Amino acid sequence: MLLRIPALLSPTALAACRKLIDQADWADGKLTAGLQSARVKNNRQLPEDDVAANAARAIVIAALGKSALFMTGALPKKTYPPLFNRYDGAANAFGSHIDNAVRTSVVSGSWVRTDLSATLFLSDPASYDGGELVIEGSFGTQEVKLAAGDLILYPASSRHQVMPVTRGTRLACFFWIESMVREDARRQLLFDLDMAILSLRSAVPEGQPEPDEVVKLTGCYHNLLRMWADT
Ligand code: NI
Repeated sequence: MLLRIPALLSPTALAACRKLIDQADWADGKLTAGLQSARVKNNRQLPEDDVAANAARAIVIAALGKSALFMTGALPKKTYPPLFNRYDGAANAFGSHIDNAVRTSVVSGSWVRTDLSATLFLSDPASYDGGELVIEGSFGTQEVKLAAGDLILYPASSRHQVMPVTRGTRLACFFWIESMVREDARRQLLFDLDMAILSLRSAVPEGQPEPDEVVKLTGCYHNLLRMWADT
């Protein structure tokens, strides 16, 4: 499933993040590329142990922890410490590839199976041309170019690319999530059920018990999660 999380970063958090990374020391994006993706990767990244990247990463991690939509959509078990990339000038695109299945970070030293890929857009889309994240899925190809502060979650099993940036600068944060529920179809089902329950619950007047059907559906959600979750 493709899940957009609008305004993951508040305007204040976004400004703080941009202040940290705008003047940082950008390096060749091939730093973290696998053998196949290195051939098509032409962008820049902040080194994982960069001081500015560390501070900006803390802002993103705090925002993720406060996002109910991220928690219910990703059901995160482990999150790869977020990285930052930059597309502009001669280093402006990332051709079609699939992200490595398992990654280890120099920051955390721990392995993460990449069930979900995430891109957090950090530049105003009007400030650059191109730079769409193009994701191939079973229902066709999606082009994603979101407002600064918005996050997109997509299955890491999807082939994807970043189109050439022909004007301006595209800054983004990207990372991967190992989910408690490994299969995308199961996560989708749990997410749909959770959203439907929330909607039913919101219609129950304050102070009144929830109808028996809502209690039963909530039980179904938790019992499915209990069956499928690997913590
Ligand atoms: Ni990728």
